[in-house]
Amino acid sequence: MRAAMLHAVGDDKLDIRDDFTLAPVGATDVRVKIKATGVCHSDLSVMTGLLPMPLPVVLGHEGAGEVVEVGDQVTSVAPGDHVVVNWTPACGACDRCVGGQPYLCMHYVMESFTLPRFRYGGETPAFGMVGCGTWAEEIVVPWQGAIKIDPEVPYEVAALIGCGITTGVGAVVNTAKLRPGATAVVIGCGGVGLSVIQGARLSGATTILAVDPLTSKHALAKKVGATDACTPEQLTEAVASLTGGQGFDYGFEVVGRSQTILAAWQATRRGGDVVVVGAGAMDDMVSLSAFNLMFDGKTLHGSLYGDSDVRRDFPLFAGLWKAGKLDLESMISSRIRLGDLNDAVAALRGGEVLRQIVVF
Ligand code: APR
Ligand code: ZN
Ligand code: ZN
Repeated sequence: MRAAMLHAVGDDKLDIRDDFTLAPVGATDVRVKIKATGVCHSDLSVMTGLLPMPLPVVLGHEGAGEVVEVGDQVTSVAPGDHVVVNWTPACGACDRCVGGQPYLCMHYVMESFTLPRFRYGGETPAFGMVGCGTWAEEIVVPWQGAIKIDPEVPYEVAALIGCGITTGVGAVVNTAKLRPGATAVVIGCGGVGLSVIQGARLSGATTILAVDPLTSKHALAKKVGATDACTPEQLTEAVASLTGGQGFDYGFEVVGRSQTILAAWQATRRGGDVVVVGAGAMDDMVSLSAFNLMFDGKTLHGSLYGDSDVRRDFPLFAGLWKAGKLDLESMISSRIRLGDLNDAVAALRGGEVLRQIVVF
């Protein structure tokens, strides 16, 4: 089968080849035929080395498809079911899972670092990004990695729920628990940032300021719910005019850089909540005033996968889309083929695109 693989960090091009095979489906595994998969910034971050992964690696982690085979012990899904791929399959038994934070379970994430589920050119093993590798025609995942979804939800919409939507909307409804009537600033308006904006609109924010250096992103941000938009250079002025200089109730960082984390921190009011959604570099340190950290009473949250329990939240986000409350179509900037992924990655580096969706 066909898949797109990265050989080494720093490579510009993916190796898109047709000679992949999959590991056999174990007793608790599921084989999924991928029907749609998105191009997320985290895929690019693996290519640049910002997100370390074992190599070589089949990229892609935002995907949806149809179950084609299940192991003997799998009862959660059956062949023919439509599923969204979950890149934090939770074991259900560790302290984090039992404590209600399944998105922090490391069991299967660590397993994916030692268990290559792909082979190419005969016997050479390849890993799947965060245990997935959805830039492939088929994947094998543990049963917790394939979440059943309403078959009326189109695959391309379901794919978006697999990462961008859950990460972004979840950061608002689960991490920040934004209160109706609140004000919010969202720094970075890619696929994930626009999902944060939608989450803030759904939660009843009255002012939502979208910040992005690319003015082409401002119109899109307003289309999905931002009330105002500006460039990073205009942020201080916007804080003054929109909040009387006090700062926003909530600040969301959706770029993945210390500089933008600081910008979100500074644009948030005393007592406000700052949520870091972007995935930054391991050695990119954030420096905050020790006095202000105490005196300003702000809270700094990291948000991984939108603090979501995907078994609850994937169907919930699908329901919001069906009810016309989540605009997922506007997030798709183009539909492409698996063979076009090198061009898609180049376009993502350029910054002008939103979600490019590979359809099969
Ligand atoms: N201030 C504001 N926005 C910025 C800045 C900045 N200084 N620098 C870049 N941006 C904008 C880009 O112009 C782009 O619109 O951030 C946006 C990033 O969008 P994408 O590349 O589409 O990234 P996305 O897939 O949305 O992911 C964003 O969330 O999940 C994480 O790993 C992911 O760190 C990444 C982040
Ligand atoms: Zn992603
Ligand atoms: Zn666990």
